[in-house]
Amino acid sequence: MMLRSTPFWSLCSQSIRHRVLPLSSFFIHRRTIKTLPSFSLENKTCVVTGSARGLGKEFLTAFALSGARGACIDLSQKDCEASIASIASQVREAYPNDPVPELRAYECNATIESDVKSTWAKIVEDFGKVDVLVTAAGIVDNVEAENYEYTRGSWLFARESGRHMIQHNIQGSIILIASMSATICVRPQKQAAYNTSKGAVQMLAKSLATEWGSRGIRVNSLSPGYMKTDLIKGLLENEGKELVGSWERDIPMGRMAEPHELRGTIVWMASKFPTNPST
Ligand SMILES: NC(=O)c1ccc[n+]([C@@H]2O[C@H](COP(=O)([O-])OP(=O)(O)OC[C@H]3O[C@@H](n4cnc5c(N)ncnc54)[C@H](O)[C@@H]3O)[C@@H](O)[C@H]2O)c1
Repeated sequence: MMLRSTPFWSLCSQSIRHRVLPLSSFFIHRRTIKTLPSFSLENKTCVVTGSARGLGKEFLTAFALSGARGACIDLSQKDCEASIASIASQVREAYPNDPVPELRAYECNATIESDVKSTWAKIVEDFGKVDVLVTAAGIVDNVEAENYEYTRGSWLFARESGRHMIQHNIQGSIILIASMSATICVRPQKQAAYNTSKGAVQMLAKSLATEWGSRGIRVNSLSPGYMKTDLIKGLLENEGKELVGSWERDIPMGRMAEPHELRGTIVWMASKFPTNPST
């Protein structure tokens, strides 16, 4: 991986520019970025649901920047393709001398079993195998508990990927996106159904980790706090932007997080490190 040459001049403060500097100081030399080899995802295939935007898109971007091929899954083919184009341009900008890893778009509703099965089959046909699954497809429905109409949650992708990894003896990584709402009750918005579903996602991850751990498959859940994505922007439009102030008073660092702040975490979770001390 290479860093592009950055004109040293543009990095200098005004006062330094007026001093005489040797010519060699004007360029930072190209160098290889060094990191632990186990963090590289080269030759891995990563599938991310809900990756047309928001956290899913950030996760797919982090994987592509770490060398992985990727499948973008979301409700609209057009949105998936736009997401992939934007990810590819970020990778090209970061590594202008390297080819962009293969990225493909799949329109699929993650709550419909037949959709999930046919999409999974197509992904396996296209890429040959899958090493990492992240389930970031999600919605937030803020409805009073007494008025909520139950809608079916989705564990379908986790099941398909587990079957695939067991059948082909792949020591893969499955990451289910839960939320802080799995363990704490946020306020003042009324979201009992969301909180309950995220608690279920956390327990699903623990159960699958217990059932599939002996096969070398790592299953974990990730529980973000408030992240500045379109999901939250939509929620604030419905519930009132003044909510942010009350949320931020409850956050120790006093601010919501940017989606890119989770890039390192998701790559670490997809790498060989978590719960696999033998590699
Ligand atoms: N944003 C936050 O503050 C926050 C905090 C904690 C957890 N989360 C969780 O992270 C995940 C991603 O959230 P986000 O903020 O990026 O949301 P987002 O709305 O920005 O993105 C979610 C994506 O999922 C897709 N999607 C929704 N239902 C789908 C379905 N049935 N099939 C396929 N795709 C579907 C949407 O089209 C969208 O592109 C969600 O599970 C959410 O609950 C978000």
